[in-house]
Amino acid sequence: MDAKGLHISTTPREGEPILRADRPDPCTLVLFGATGDLAQRKLFPALFELARSGLLPESFALVAFSRSAQDDGAFRAQVKEGLQKFARTQPLDEATWERFGPRLECISGGYDDPEAFARLSERLESVGKRYNTQGNQLYYLATPASTFPTLLKRLSGAGLLPREEQPGQKPWRRLVIEKPFGRDLESAKELNRNLSAVLDERQIFRIDHYLGKETVQNILVFRFANLIFEPLWNRNYIDHVEITAAETLGMENGRGRFYDETGVIRDMVQNHLLQVLALCAMEPPTSFGAEDIRDEKNKVFRALRSVEGSDVASHVVAGQYQGYRQEEGVAKDSRTPTYVAMKLNVDSWRWKGVPFFLRAGKMLAKRVTEVSIHFKQVPISIFSTSEACQRLQPNVLRLRIQPQEGIALSFESKMPGEDVSIAGVNMDFTYREAFSKPVPEAYERLLLDCMRGNATLFARKDSVEQAWAYVTPILRALESGEGGKMHEYAPGSTGPEEAAALLARDGRRWTVLK
Ligand code: BG6
Repeated sequence: MDAKGLHISTTPREGEPILRADRPDPCTLVLFGATGDLAQRKLFPALFELARSGLLPESFALVAFSRSAQDDGAFRAQVKEGLQKFARTQPLDEATWERFGPRLECISGGYDDPEAFARLSERLESVGKRYNTQGNQLYYLATPASTFPTLLKRLSGAGLLPREEQPGQKPWRRLVIEKPFGRDLESAKELNRNLSAVLDERQIFRIDHYLGKETVQNILVFRFANLIFEPLWNRNYIDHVEITAAETLGMENGRGRFYDETGVIRDMVQNHLLQVLALCAMEPPTSFGAEDIRDEKNKVFRALRSVEGSDVASHVVAGQYQGYRQEEGVAKDSRTPTYVAMKLNVDSWRWKGVPFFLRAGKMLAKRVTEVSIHFKQVPISIFSTSEACQRLQPNVLRLRIQPQEGIALSFESKMPGEDVSIAGVNMDFTYREAFSKPVPEAYERLLLDCMRGNATLFARKDSVEQAWAYVTPILRALESGEGGKMHEYAPGSTGPEEAAALLARDGRRWTVLK
């Protein structure tokens, strides 16, 4: 029985929101990788939107450090061109650009050139005075991970990144880095050692953009701002949990080379999906503070039952889409997975015996990211002996991360009529209908939080290492072939057939991608 759409109206209450956005301190953002794809598509549009909605500090400036020679005028023109394509609000708001554009400056030099960093230091002095940014500086490395050690060495060598001795110290210096945070446990530890040699953990903001998505943040609000779900949120009522991140995209925008060295487990599972799993599985934190939340997430990672060696084959299905090896930048004999389905066990009091099934992949039939919580079956059906009434469908709670952001709960209902016929229906909340405001982009929230010094939505050193500790043996087993073979799937399909068998062995089925 399919759940029919029963729409329940969701009207937000009037009044002040409980959590309000405070304007951050004045600051200068120093951006490395300003001409790259991430900066053009995500970072500048997010900063621009913050400026447009009055959330950027009054005293704000941005200095891009570029390896190619460019003057301020050419740099601003390039940013504006990108914004005309990628800004969230179109057409581009010229009045905001008038205020925002002149605050962008550019300096060029090599990443390993001490003299260039001395010039950067001087420029930051002068920018700080001109825009009254009060010495606060946010360094954003939107560059490949291989550049991090050099950049850290040069920034600290030029005295730009002093270690924070006390929480709340002013002026502050912070560093933002983008994933991948290493390739495996060893390299992640190495990166963390490099970072810790220079900075206090409080100064490091590791971006996992999934944590900035409204719908991902809403997992915590849904669980801990409502009383009625939490008593059910455990092994007594939940049968299994599915987390899906299906993409229709493949290797567009020349991503083949990067992706072929990465693969779906490093690209999506180690970070985004394990973070989402942790938010679903964690215990209630003592507060909404960064450390309390991150402590609880970390306990989930520690409770993940490790899977290694030949066991990988019975817990993980890896796939590659047909035609992947012909993509630009991809090795002709590549064994990089573009799809993975996995069964995970969280060995904690709350979750013992409840499997978590994860799947992620490129070139699939639909773009869907969602968590579905499958509740247990009622113990017996009291409704007639007809087969349809006997086969009651268990409730499913779907946390839809994207697209059609929202939450839906399916339940059984009597169909109108003389007899007792039962049909599945849905209680459905969508962001679009409930709130008049568009859902902000993840990077808007994350950039604001970096400037505010709020690390709640960022990955902490220990959890990054815990997540790598879980996936590294899986990667090793897949790479050596011990973890099973690579299954092909057709572009536009739902992935390899073997993924269905992974759940079928446990008497379960994947939610249809729709
Ligand atoms: C990125 C991955 O981190 O997340 C990409 O590197 C992936 O491969 C992307 O496409 C998915 O993000 P979103 O926000 O589109 O779900």
